[in-house]
Amino acid sequence: MARAKKGGAGGEHGAAGQSDVAVSPGAADDEAPAGSDHAHTAGIGNGEGGTGATQHQDVEGLTGDAAAAEIEALAAAIDAANTAYHQLDAPEITDAEYDGLKQRLLSIEAAFPDLVRPGSPSARVGAAAAPGFRKLRHARPMLSLENAFSATEVEDFVARIRSFLALPAEAPLVLTAEPKIDGLSLSLRYEGGRLASAATRGDGETGEDVTANARTIADIPRRIDGAPEVLEVRGEVYMTHADFAALHDSGAVSGAGKPFANPRNAAAGSLRQLDPAITASRPLRFFAYAWGETSAPLADTQSDAVARLGAFGFPTNPLMRRCPDTACLLGAWGEIEAQRANLGYDIDGVVYKVDDLALQRRLGLRSTTPRWALAHKFPAETAWTTLEAIDIQVGRTGALSPVARLAPVTVGGVVVQNATLHNEDYIAGRDARGGAIREGRDIRLGDRVKVYRAGDVIPKIADVDLTARPADADPYAFPTRCPSCGAEAVREPGDAVRRCTGGLACPAQAVEKLRHFVSRAAFDIEGLGARQVEAFYAAGWIAEPADIFHLARDHRDDLLATEGWGERSVANLLAAIEARRTIPLDRLIFALGIRHVGEAAARLLARHYHDWTGFAAALDAAHDEASPAWADLTAIDGIGPVLARSLTTAFAQEAERMAIDRLVAELDVLPVEAPRTEGSPITGQTVVFTGTLERMTRAEAKARAEAMGAKVAGSVSARTDLVVAGAGAGSKAKKAAELGLKVIDEDEWLRIAGS
Ligand code: IVH
Repeated sequence: MARAKKGGAGGEHGAAGQSDVAVSPGAADDEAPAGSDHAHTAGIGNGEGGTGATQHQDVEGLTGDAAAAEIEALAAAIDAANTAYHQLDAPEITDAEYDGLKQRLLSIEAAFPDLVRPGSPSARVGAAAAPGFRKLRHARPMLSLENAFSATEVEDFVARIRSFLALPAEAPLVLTAEPKIDGLSLSLRYEGGRLASAATRGDGETGEDVTANARTIADIPRRIDGAPEVLEVRGEVYMTHADFAALHDSGAVSGAGKPFANPRNAAAGSLRQLDPAITASRPLRFFAYAWGETSAPLADTQSDAVARLGAFGFPTNPLMRRCPDTACLLGAWGEIEAQRANLGYDIDGVVYKVDDLALQRRLGLRSTTPRWALAHKFPAETAWTTLEAIDIQVGRTGALSPVARLAPVTVGGVVVQNATLHNEDYIAGRDARGGAIREGRDIRLGDRVKVYRAGDVIPKIADVDLTARPADADPYAFPTRCPSCGAEAVREPGDAVRRCTGGLACPAQAVEKLRHFVSRAAFDIEGLGARQVEAFYAAGWIAEPADIFHLARDHRDDLLATEGWGERSVANLLAAIEARRTIPLDRLIFALGIRHVGEAAARLLARHYHDWTGFAAALDAAHDEASPAWADLTAIDGIGPVLARSLTTAFAQEAERMAIDRLVAELDVLPVEAPRTEGSPITGQTVVFTGTLERMTRAEAKARAEAMGAKVAGSVSARTDLVVAGAGAGSKAKKAAELGLKVIDEDEWLRIAGS
């Protein structure tokens, strides 16, 4: 059966594989295939090597007492198996044996319904059949934060806010400063004062339902008094250094069976346990610092809102303070950094937020980050080590990425063995424009190199020690042929990256495309992670995404004959694949893995074109850059000519297009609508702003229109629905009048925008 460890952190395939990403029970992509049938000692029940055959007395022949005794024993055995599997990562019985126990329990319970115990493992059938967390959609997206690494970037941030809001220099602007906790974020939903659900961040829109686990955390109140009817409290789950050390000493391990690398991984691994009893045994803590949906406002300012969360019983960070200017923010940053080593928990920077919530609302959000907040990170931690080898990885678009293999070294508590080297210029000590980096020092095999980690990103190499260079070290010769398929690897003018020209025929590109296709933000097929995709590709079963949907027809028997797969796990995998035949347009567009087309662009495109037919037809037409279709495509805010050309080129390339068409023929693509904006008079409309707006900056007007479901275009065309003409509007307003479009002035716009 599929006791695949799913629901995890998998799906990210950085150029340099990091050794420190294991969390339990996640890391779907790094786990064994679903249903690996390891033979171990049998528990009670059908202990015959996992055949599933029952060796028991017929259920009908059981007395009530015997049934009760057996139910108790079965429940204990199932719980023990769950613990061994999920907590210890060391299953003691085979999957088939586990199945047998469950089936026996179910049949006895069916015959003796009075004996069904509350909380019986049979009540968790659904979860056990396909373990993993239920998904929960956040009522408000869970955002991430824009990062800054220098005082200048902080000054720019404050200046941008002032300019967005058109605040005069003398107008006050208060921001809060508070530690950025290095844990994992959690959203707690209270309804009628009771904790109703808890979800991890997930992809920001949908997270994992960890309600039962959150209930075990002492810092999280189960009931709160005096709160709005609906209140989503957001904050960070973390572990203190002392608790982490004790857990480490107790021998607790991650999903990969290794000790947790740091408190953050331990917190994540402990929260994301399928058995809440395990979470309960882990010393997790919580700080509240934000909120999602609320049926009534908490306060008028960020600081008062957080104080109210404190009054409801949530721990809030004592170091938060209010600042009237940038100098104060930077001072707070310095003070918090000075306390970093003594806090007893990990922080990785300071978060600044605009205090006035009315201003926060006006500033609004970008696709994944608010305009009103900034994370000012602490400098990266560094260490010196030896560069042992340089491997070249080939990405899904053919990019050759050099990866440094290092003598293992600890950087900020994490063992690092790999680091990205970016591209050949970076190794040679040049930047994209031919200027010197590291004062022109190149990097050679055997060099002593300085490694750094900034936050969660892949480690990098900052510097090289020439005094320690081996006498026989030669400059590194970057390959000009693809190490995977041998095709020529070329650099286009202006491109820092050398790319394999093998296209879909290159095995490395094909595998990377498939890995991307099944990744978490793309098709996210349960039980089909990077490992499985690689194995199926190597077996010759899948060469392109469409083949995944033929596995049931063409390779069911091959799968069944493969070690580690059984009837149940194959059935689960094929069912998960079937379930994904229905896919929203934005996920499909992202999954295609076209260069430059990330999640945000895919969402913009899907919202603009709504359905697959419209999208594909538009891209075909847009191949001609003189066409209205090209103008329409590049008028989408956030879609520039480089991205647009990458799309139209991919669609025009015969081999690639045929592979896309073969895929789409297997799918039922769900249309995507513009964001739901109840009562907005401009949903779905294309709006152009021209002239000078006096009471709102152009940036604010644009953000406001987008939040109301409109598309904002830069130029007037027959497709424009509404033109907002500010003072001194010139040629655009004239053209709009000629085209007979609706033109309104700033007053009317303000009425629509509700400000
Ligand atoms: S505010 C609207 N405040 O940092 C923005 N986030 O890098 C919501 N984090 O996903 C986040 N400490 O998990 C905020 N004091 C703090 C934080 C904090 C840690 C985390 C949070 C967020 C991530 C973004």
